[in-house]
Amino acid sequence: MPTLSDLVVRHTALDEDDLDWLHSLVSDWQLLADLSFADLILWAPLLGEGGWIAIAQMRPTTGPTVYHDDIVGSVAAKGERPLIDTAWNERRICREGDPDWSTGVPVREETIPVRRAVPDGEARFLAIIQRSTNLSSARTPSRLELTYLQSASDLAQMVAEGRFPFSGEEPILVRSPRVGDGLLRLDRAGRVTYASPNALSAYRRLGLHADLVGAELGRVTATLCYSDEPINEDLMIVASGRAAKETEVESGGTIVQLRAIPLIVGGGRIGALVLIRDVTELRRRERELMTKDATIREIHHRVKNNLQTVAALLRLQARRLQVPEGREALEEAVRRVGSIAIVHETLSHAPEEFVDFDDIADRVIAMAGEVSAPEAAVTPRRVGGFGVLPSLIATPLAMALTELLQNALQHGRPRRLQVVVEPGAERLNVLVWDDGQGLPEGFDLDSSTSLGLQIVRTLVEGELSGRLAVEPREGGGTEVRLSIPLPSGPA
Ligand SMILES: Nc1ncnc2c1ncn2[C@@H]1O[C@H](COP(=O)(O)OP(=O)(O)OP(=O)(O)O)[C@@H](O)[C@H]1O
Ligand SMILES: [Mg+2]
Repeated sequence: MPTLSDLVVRHTALDEDDLDWLHSLVSDWQLLADLSFADLILWAPLLGEGGWIAIAQMRPTTGPTVYHDDIVGSVAAKGERPLIDTAWNERRICREGDPDWSTGVPVREETIPVRRAVPDGEARFLAIIQRSTNLSSARTPSRLELTYLQSASDLAQMVAEGRFPFSGEEPILVRSPRVGDGLLRLDRAGRVTYASPNALSAYRRLGLHADLVGAELGRVTATLCYSDEPINEDLMIVASGRAAKETEVESGGTIVQLRAIPLIVGGGRIGALVLIRDVTELRRRERELMTKDATIREIHHRVKNNLQTVAALLRLQARRLQVPEGREALEEAVRRVGSIAIVHETLSHAPEEFVDFDDIADRVIAMAGEVSAPEAAVTPRRVGGFGVLPSLIATPLAMALTELLQNALQHGRPRRLQVVVEPGAERLNVLVWDDGQGLPEGFDLDSSTSLGLQIVRTLVEGELSGRLAVEPREGGGTEVRLSIPLPSGPA
């Protein structure tokens, strides 16, 4: 589906600033849809021929939709939708007309011109919002519905006057509270004139016993959240509804997110909406996850340090040994421990269940090249990428690679040595090949008793439930193929 930017750039004469305005409108108009219990469609004037193109669409979370299909991208010729034309030509919100029955349900249509405020310049009209309410399930309006609808109409007025969306409001990373999470309406003095049941519950959990309606929200909130720390300035601004801002307040173990939307209609502040969401559970889970992550990271870090200590000890002992065989054996052990340490080092940076194995592979490859055969004139290379692998696979795979590279360098003395990753969705297929001396006569993997390939086999077939084949390579040298089943990747 084309994006808002695509459509605007390709089909309209709107400029970059206009597009920014529409982006911030669309990032915030869920509010208008929810308060209106209505579908919203944003129509922009088509380049040249006249007519309209739908560039964005929003459904209400508070009521039934009118449009089950996607409208974005569709075009309306001039005259086809007279309400849009009128709103555009007369620069005003249009409400007239009887319910439209063409979709099988009664739908009330309204159109709102979108105006962009231009500092020191003439305001620009950019587009039209079509607001369609499905009347089939219209309930007898309650206090809640009347407040929502009144607030929707104030917001619509603000859109037409270029006062909504709020320019310069910082983008919010966490999801802002929505209408259904809890809503308060304040009058000009910051007193609550309406509190939705959810909003009231949130304040009860913050410790409020008195009535909320009639109370001055700023003062009430400040009293509830009183602490030794200096008063949070945002709190007073937000809770009094004076600026378009968000804040979080905490009291009695409850954390509540507040978002203020000042209502400025006809040039004057008439009050504000405050959206409220209880985020106690969300924040608690975030904190838990954060400490859990940090703990796992720390454990990997310590494992890595311990492994490095072990490697250092073995290296020390190897140096003191006179018997060459014994020394070699210890040096190999150093290498094996080292490749496990590399994996833990990577995991200690990224404690997730998945790690970027290319990084690990490159370090294992570099280490094999350095440690095992300083005299060998070959630099092992990686071809293709492993990508992101489950950490459960990373350790055994890194160890297996170490052994295979070591073998090729030690026994093959090749001129070329490569680790090739062959792409595959469900299996990881890796080929380690060299152009060296080749396997000894009568080599048989099953009856080989030396340690290196035994380790590889245990890791690949046992731990990773994969397959292993060691064969002579066509044209000389040796090739080893690993095929490892992958669990379904990161979601
Ligand atoms: N790439 C290769 N080129 C030539 N010969 C190989 C290659 N890989 C393995 N071999 C042969 O297979 C034998 C078994 O290898 P394996 O890794 O099990 O033991 P090793 O390397 O001799 O000893 P260890 O790895 O325990 O120090 C090797 O001794 C070698 O003869
Ligand atoms: Mg070996």
